[in-house]
Amino acid sequence: MIHAYLKAVLGLVVLPAMSLAGAWAANSCIDCHSDPNYFVQDRKLHDYYQDWIKSPHKEAGLTCDFCHSGDPAAAGKEAAHNTILKVTDPESRLFFKNLPETCGSCHPDKLAQFKLSKHFKALMEDRTAPSCTTCHSAMRPRPDYRDIVKQSCHTCHFDDNPQALPLVADRADEFLHRLNIGKVYLAWVTMYYEEQSWPGETREEVGAITSKYNDAVARVHRFDLATMDESSAEILAELEGMFKTAWDERPTRD
Ligand code: HEC
Ligand code: HEC
Ligand code: HEC
Ligand code: HEC
Ligand code: HEC
Repeated sequence: MIHAYLKAVLGLVVLPAMSLAGAWAANSCIDCHSDPNYFVQDRKLHDYYQDWIKSPHKEAGLTCDFCHSGDPAAAGKEAAHNTILKVTDPESRLFFKNLPETCGSCHPDKLAQFKLSKHFKALMEDRTAPSCTTCHSAMRPRPDYRDIVKQSCHTCHFDDNPQALPLVADRADEFLHRLNIGKVYLAWVTMYYEEQSWPGETREEVGAITSKYNDAVARVHRFDLATMDESSAEILAELEGMFKTAWDERPTRD
């Protein structure tokens, strides 16, 4: 049932894209790494670039050097790579202890929540724990790599060790799924009622569910799983209801 609606929604939602295209007019990282020859010569290199080019970060003008350092004004590889630090170097912006701050410099609210979690504490104590890129990947930050997330939770929270919270992986998988779908409904409903100039109480209703959704996302970032199952299910049910109402009421256009 849900899938028929979802298909309709996906067909209609056109998410706004920020664009500063051209901001890297003279950026040797982009010029060189975009070389299509890497598809054959170095497939992994090619794939990293393809991840970035499809990411919202590319849309926002966030170039390679921001995260990796290096000199984008230098033409040759050696010179451009000169100041790229290994991720194992504690000075690297991508060093595991620095990564949350690097991402958080532009996403401070997510960082603030993450800092409240035991995972963050574990990272700072040099223990292994997930970080921003566990769920969002490094180069193409999307929150919907459910399988990858689930796998990654399993690496530490596994079945043979009841002390290690073995169920969190499945639960994370379920609520991530609900939030992914819920997000699409929310975008559609918001767009639809805005187009209709917010009839009746719709502005308040959409505002209320948006806060609930944002609150759930905040809780994801502090790993407050105890409350996620119920709240993500409630949010999805409510959004699905709102979507169906709007969809059935929508004026037909010729
Ligand atoms: C003239 C081509 C060229 C330029 C310019 C260039 N790169 Fe590279 N880059 C490569 C190649 C080829 C590799 C594959 C590994 C190698 O050959 O060193 C690579 C590898 C990398 C890697 C993987 C880690 C490593 O060191 O192997 C990163 C990260 C990277 N480049 C980032 C950058 C950034 C950031 C810039 C701009 C400041 C940049 N590159 C500029 C060609 C280039
Ligand atoms: C928002 C930050 C960010 C941006 C922007 C970014 N990267 Fe990355 N990149 C990462 C992270 C994080 C990793 C994973 C590092 C690790 O190995 O833990 C990574 C990994 C890589 C790797 C693989 C490194 C290796 O050692 O195998 C390459 C190659 C790479 N990036 C190239 C680029 C290029 C080229 C660009 C620009 C087109 C770019 N990156 C833009 C964050 C970023
Ligand atoms: C220099 C600023 C900057 C940095 C650093 C940065 N981002 Fe972003 N990020 C943005 C902008 C701008 C957007 C697009 C607008 C938005 O969704 O907020 C974005 C979007 C996102 C999204 C939303 C993707 C979507 O599909 O809606 C995620 C997830 C994300 N970033 C994760 C990360 C992670 C993980 C890192 C660190 C590896 C990071 N960001 C580093 C600026 C940044
Ligand atoms: C346990 C997995 C997980 C981790 C770890 C995680 N996130 Fe998220 N993130 C999510 C989920 C789930 C969403 C919401 C789903 C969506 O937006 O589609 C999200 C949404 C986002 C967004 C989209 C903006 C929005 O409000 O919709 C940004 C930006 C973001 N996260 C940044 C970060 C940063 C920065 C870190 C590290 C400090 C981080 N995330 C760690 C799962 C995670
Ligand atoms: C690399 C190891 C590692 C990975 C991967 C990992 N965790 Fe954890 N997790 C930990 C550690 C360490 C703790 C903290 C244990 C402690 O200090 O009590 C923890 C604690 C937790 C807790 C309890 C938090 C609390 O406040 O009591 C939850 C829930 C949790 N993890 C969920 C997840 C989820 C969901 C994922 C997948 C996105 C995940 N973990 C991936 C290492 C990991």
